[in-house]
Amino acid sequence: EKIKAFRKALLDWYDKEKRDLPWRRTNDPYCIWVSEIMLQQTRVDTVIPYYYNFLNKFPDIASLATAHEDVLLKAWEGLGYYSRVKNMQKAAQQIVADYNGVFPEDPKEIAKLKGIGPYTAGAVSSIAFQLPEPAVDGNVMRVMSRLFEIDADIAKPASRKIFEEIVRELIDPDRPGDFNQALMDLGSSICTPLNPRPEISPIKAFNAAYQHGTMHLYPVKSKA
Ligand code: ADE
Repeated sequence: EKIKAFRKALLDWYDKEKRDLPWRRTNDPYCIWVSEIMLQQTRVDTVIPYYYNFLNKFPDIASLATAHEDVLLKAWEGLGYYSRVKNMQKAAQQIVADYNGVFPEDPKEIAKLKGIGPYTAGAVSSIAFQLPEPAVDGNVMRVMSRLFEIDADIAKPASRKIFEEIVRELIDPDRPGDFNQALMDLGSSICTPLNPRPEISPIKAFNAAYQHGTMHLYPVKSKA
């Protein structure tokens, strides 16, 4: 039916056009987690060398948990937002203390870790553990708001849940991590904030705003 056709259109496009990124060559939840934390406030091209360096210096949860703070901060130098890496070390210590050093698989447990919010919990759950969890950030909200002409204000924190429920229904249970990452790629290449190109989108047939000529109205985003 329609949802299956949507998944196939999106994933066929992803299979052809996906970016070859280092964190897409691993299923290790630790590596996926590191990548997602770095990518929160930093662009893909900037993150790549930091990702390699960080994993060389701190190859696993145990080494991150016991790292000296000066060495840790040095590996983060240039990325900014140092609370990200400080929280990662606290989370690594939590994993050692509470889960015997093994990254938890349950999304609810993942979400209890320091510095891991709903987006990161969903990204790690879906990409590393193949669980059908949404990973909704601003890009995914923009994609979904155009696709379904959703009037929820994406600047309001409460709106994220609305988009999570939509993604929960759409997500491909056989390839949840690829599905989420396909939405990220679509949001960074075609379904951009400025000058989107819906006419070349793999899912244009499903794009209500494009079909109705209302693309300019979405996403709804208040200024303040
Ligand atoms: N931005 C955040 N997570 C990402 C991922 N897994 N791949 C590409 N861009 C991303």
